[in-house]
Amino acid sequence: MKTTNYLHLDEAYTVKAVEKLNQLAANFHIYYSNLRAFHWHVEGRSFFVLHEQLEKMYDELAENIDEVAERILQLGGTPVRFFKDIESLATLKQAVNVSKESDIIEQVLESISLFIKIEREGLALAAENGDDTTVGLLSEYLQGQEKLVWMLTAYLKK
Ligand SMILES: [Fe+2]
Repeated sequence: MKTTNYLHLDEAYTVKAVEKLNQLAANFHIYYSNLRAFHWHVEGRSFFVLHEQLEKMYDELAENIDEVAERILQLGGTPVRFFKDIESLATLKQAVNVSKESDIIEQVLESISLFIKIEREGLALAAENGDDTTVGLLSEYLQGQEKLVWMLTAYLKK
């Protein structure tokens, strides 16, 4: 018995969707560990603001990782979980020695830009195949991330 027997989605599509969602999940995992490092190592005048904001961001991201993993399971796939698989699937690199406010924000913006790209690809694929649930999930992430891009670029202005 498998979930996809009940979903009325094209089988070949679900395989591709799982691949795309796992690509997103792997990058989310790396980003999660980077956000924690930024939260710990941030230095400077914005310490209190950023320290707290970064914690909010990784808490929210932990929920998102769970949602993506559960969507992968619903589509009949296995969510990426082992560090070695995460590392080989993710495009994002582990951040090393980042503690300056502007460097942190720049890295956050670059990470978000990557997610937006993957999500747009996933959304187009899901929309073509009538997978409204995945469309909804990815579109919710895009809304939040595009808003964050606006807020962070405003924050960076001198
Ligand atoms: Fe903390």
